[in-house]
Amino acid sequence: MKINSLLLGAIVLVFSATAAAQQPIVIKFSHVVAADTPKGKASEFFAKRAGELTKGKVKVEVYANSTLYKDKEEMEALQLGAVQMLAPSLAKFAPLGVKEFELFDLPYLFDDYKELHAVTTGPVGKALLQKLETRGLVGLAYWDNGFKVMSANKPIRVPDDYKGLKMRIQSSNVLDAQMRAIGAIPQKMAFSEVYQALQTGVVDGTENPPSNLYTQKMHEVQKYVALTNHGYLGYAVITNKKFWDGLPADVRTALDAAMAEATKYANSIAKDDNDKAMEEVRKSGKSEILVPTAEQKIAMKKAMVKVHQQMADRIGKENIDTIYKATGFDPSKL
Ligand code: LMR
Repeated sequence: MKINSLLLGAIVLVFSATAAAQQPIVIKFSHVVAADTPKGKASEFFAKRAGELTKGKVKVEVYANSTLYKDKEEMEALQLGAVQMLAPSLAKFAPLGVKEFELFDLPYLFDDYKELHAVTTGPVGKALLQKLETRGLVGLAYWDNGFKVMSANKPIRVPDDYKGLKMRIQSSNVLDAQMRAIGAIPQKMAFSEVYQALQTGVVDGTENPPSNLYTQKMHEVQKYVALTNHGYLGYAVITNKKFWDGLPADVRTALDAAMAEATKYANSIAKDDNDKAMEEVRKSGKSEILVPTAEQKIAMKKAMVKVHQQMADRIGKENIDTIYKATGFDPSKL
């Protein structure tokens, strides 16, 4: 009898040890945009490939649309270990202690994705990810979204049209300076609150790539959308360094491979997703689409480009110079 119960105890122990060994490592991946956006789709893609390449040792749970945490809270959750991965927009890194990421917000700096990638894959992009390590984070990749449009309830074509408009922005001082440069009044606000703020008139307008504008239905509460393409919005995928370094080496290698695939995927769908979203906005007929003339574009550019020098101390003059070289941007040629 005694031997039997000892045997039973041993069997129970073996079973629970095996079950514990088979429990997957859970990665909670929180983000604030809709599932049907470049970031939403890329995070799902990563989740699938992470499961496959680790042979089930890792389970990535994606929480879209601020369902788990909003902008500010998700940053805190990552630092506390309540979530393991995020992909905040590059405009939101100052609270994490790396304000230089705001260089990606500089208006009219990048003409297209190619110029942008020259920077993310070049020395400046790499150094910024590296700098995150001093903040207890690991930067795993850059993911594209796209180029921003402006929206409001009155026609917005030239800087004068923005005078006095309350424009929602992300938490970036470069974006703050950009809006002030055209006479607008910037209002920093969490992404999850933008639709309601537009609907109730707490703010008059905003900026975002079409994929975000459309999937949050912002165009339904904005009468005009101007195709300004005045700035870029993209992401850095980040994880908690302590968590990352604590993973078994084979798991980390597999996750790196899954992230490389997801990055390729994200950057291959971003432009098309934004083009399609803009087409849907157009088809909806809810807001009038304003296409800037060459003169209007120059007027906006002239007003906004001074922000590059205004923000040089914040983001590093040498960073700006390196980017000018990489993209061929020449402020004297405006
Ligand atoms: C925003 O707050 O407007 C964007 O950063 C949202 C996002 O993650 O694309």
